[in-house]
Amino acid sequence: MEFVQSPRAEADSAYAKVSRVIPEIEWAVHAPHVNAINQLKRRRNAVVLAHNYMTPEIFHCVADFVGDSLQLAREAAKVDAEVIVQAGVHFMAETSKILSPDKTVLIPDSRAGCSLAASISAADVRLLKEKFPGIPVVTYVNTSAAVKAESDVCCTSSNAVAVVEDIARERGVDTVVMIPDEYLAQNVSRQTAVKIVSWKGRCEVHERFSSADIQAYRSANPGVVVLAHPECPPEVVAQADFAGSTSAMIRYVGTHRPARVVMVTECSMSDNVAVEFPDVEFVRPCNLCPHMKRITLPGILQALETMTVEVFVDPLTAARARAAVERMLAVSGGSAPVRLAA
Ligand code: 13P
Ligand code: SF4
Repeated sequence: MEFVQSPRAEADSAYAKVSRVIPEIEWAVHAPHVNAINQLKRRRNAVVLAHNYMTPEIFHCVADFVGDSLQLAREAAKVDAEVIVQAGVHFMAETSKILSPDKTVLIPDSRAGCSLAASISAADVRLLKEKFPGIPVVTYVNTSAAVKAESDVCCTSSNAVAVVEDIARERGVDTVVMIPDEYLAQNVSRQTAVKIVSWKGRCEVHERFSSADIQAYRSANPGVVVLAHPECPPEVVAQADFAGSTSAMIRYVGTHRPARVVMVTECSMSDNVAVEFPDVEFVRPCNLCPHMKRITLPGILQALETMTVEVFVDPLTAARARAAVERMLAVSGGSAPVRLAA
């Protein structure tokens, strides 16, 4: 027999997890939404796949799986539910639909875009392929399905080096085109002998960090360990103690337990990780991603109530994009999705 907690008990145990980062007065607003979402998920046979940048009340209280882009894609490919609610941005929901075409994929706010995805179109990729014939195109998952469909293989920040080297070896070439993030491309090119032709896209959140910022964090917080996302400018990454995907940064904190850390990335990361590691002091300068922040508890509830906004990808585009995403999933790297306790 399945044991289902009462809504009150469920809300109390959810709050116990996040009480260090959400004040009680704020929780009073969240609790009814958390209860309603968790009940409706069971009725709809739905799961919430949440990116590491979601706010703590989403990340810790209604998500079934959390992770970086690669972990969420791996979970979408095998998830055992009829409905996926993507608590993340639009390209992530499209990736879920591409990998699970028979499932209903919902995004709580279809305006949740990404400056990288907006920086390049399928026509741009076709022109690049004409300009660099025979050179494989490695495409960051932060792109539309139509752009993925024009690509040889996708990558994320957690497997980019492995993917670039794998496709160069398989095609017998020494150069790849890597789109659309010019900073990620520059950061990857420092770790491989493969030559990289890049595009001019940037993440509007990470491009704002500068090396002067890193110096300021270090002088104001002696001994602080600096973790940076590889979408940051190369001079920022060069000054960090560690650079990696959002989940790689979380693993770094779990493994090394620094006394003080600064996560040079989106703001919700520190809140979410601080819940797990009360012994670590988080220095918290950060930049908000306005797209990720469009996803809210009321939005998730409405998505489940109304079964909107459903994400569709044209089947021909989806088939070509799936080949590029599945090729990426076949390259090892990154880690398994994280299932949260109910
Ligand atoms: P991760 O794959 O590292 O989670 O990055 C996704 C993203 O959008 C970072 O800005
Ligand atoms: Fe896109 Fe940057 Fe926001 Fe990630 S943080 S979704 S890369 S704009």
